[in-house]
Amino acid sequence: MQTRVCIIGGGPSGLLLSQLLHLNGIDNVLLEKHSRAHVLARIRAGVIEHGFAQLMQEAQCGERMQREGQVHHGFYIAHDGRLDRVDLHKYSGGGSVIVYGQTELTRDLYEARDRLGGVVIHEAEDVQLHDLTGDRPYVTFRQGGQAQRVDCDFVIGADGFHGVSRKAIPAGVLREYEKIYPFGWLGILSRTPPVSPELIYVKHERGFALCSLRSPTLSRYYIQVPATDKVENWSDEAFWEELKRRLPAEVAARLVTGPSIEKSIALARSYVAEPMQYGRLFLAGDAAHIVPPTGARGLNTAASDIYYLSRALIAYYKQGDARGLETYSEKALARVWKAQRFSWWMTRLLHRFPEHSPYEEKLQAAELAYLFSSERALASLAENYVGLPY
Ligand code: APR
Ligand code: PHB
Repeated sequence: MQTRVCIIGGGPSGLLLSQLLHLNGIDNVLLEKHSRAHVLARIRAGVIEHGFAQLMQEAQCGERMQREGQVHHGFYIAHDGRLDRVDLHKYSGGGSVIVYGQTELTRDLYEARDRLGGVVIHEAEDVQLHDLTGDRPYVTFRQGGQAQRVDCDFVIGADGFHGVSRKAIPAGVLREYEKIYPFGWLGILSRTPPVSPELIYVKHERGFALCSLRSPTLSRYYIQVPATDKVENWSDEAFWEELKRRLPAEVAARLVTGPSIEKSIALARSYVAEPMQYGRLFLAGDAAHIVPPTGARGLNTAASDIYYLSRALIAYYKQGDARGLETYSEKALARVWKAQRFSWWMTRLLHRFPEHSPYEEKLQAAELAYLFSSERALASLAENYVGLPY
């Protein structure tokens, strides 16, 4: 097979790039390891920045999000027996976010690829990258036992944290920065009305919790658990019990519980790989960086990579201008690190760290007290949460 751009990974990053390139007449092939059903069974985050929503519109896949997504102008932080609201609209100068599940967004992207007749190859096994530093890189894989080869100008590694693309960068070139937290988030999806129309982030001495939602009838809740915990240790009843203990009494009293549709633990980790380019390979999204879910930056940061990368590839093919590609890694990483900082800050603000001394716990309480006493501190939180400019 011959194409211009070979994209590895059919998550949001790969699909969005594939769609944007196609709309600009740039031929591309996307290779995904799993089946579409498998990809669409994953439940992940659900807070979308305005810039990302605009990019979805540009990619002609934003219509359902516009219709069914909920615009949120604020969220709550429960702490020290109080429930304080962060007015995103006021403190970010008119900003907001859209609450819309990543699963739905991925479905919209797949449907858009179908409509345009995009080449998306599922169950591509044993994907390998070759000649990345030459002029004609290629990718090999197997499909139904048959060996296949894609010759291309560029390879895009959008295959998530556990993908193969990043590993194709030699150890002497790749620099990795990582922080592993001693906890994860145990999440439940349930067909119950959300306890609050806006998200509630909870700091509690028993650990962090989050009340989120997908629709007026679908709720998403999380509780902090030790990194060593197993999802099998948690019955639905035990989950709801623990969640209620961490919520302010008036919120716990109106919580509607029900059977879980999905239950899983996501470990909290901060990670960045530099550079995001090696020869004709460009990394994007989780393949290059991940964050703990606290500030809802993961998916949005993947989208900002795709913003820079799509512009760079379009300029290259339409105007013969390679500058965007040459500066991609630097530009993307500048925004990635700001998202890392914000996620780390919000994670540290709201979680219980077993290694913290009483002094550090006091500092954490003071940080929250400061936040809700300072319009400037709230403005900093709000501008990061709604998304820094591209
Ligand atoms: N070959 C082909 N595809 C692969 C390979 C491989 N060797 N390894 C992984 N993949 C696929 C995965 O099956 C997955 O569908 O790559 C895709 C990567 O998708 P995501 O993990 O969703 O990553 P990305 O598209 O960058 O999405 C952004 O940010 O914080 C997160 O929750 C957020 O998952 C979201 C991500
Ligand atoms: C979610 O709804 O899954 C969600 C929302 C906000 C976060 C993380 C996850 O910060």
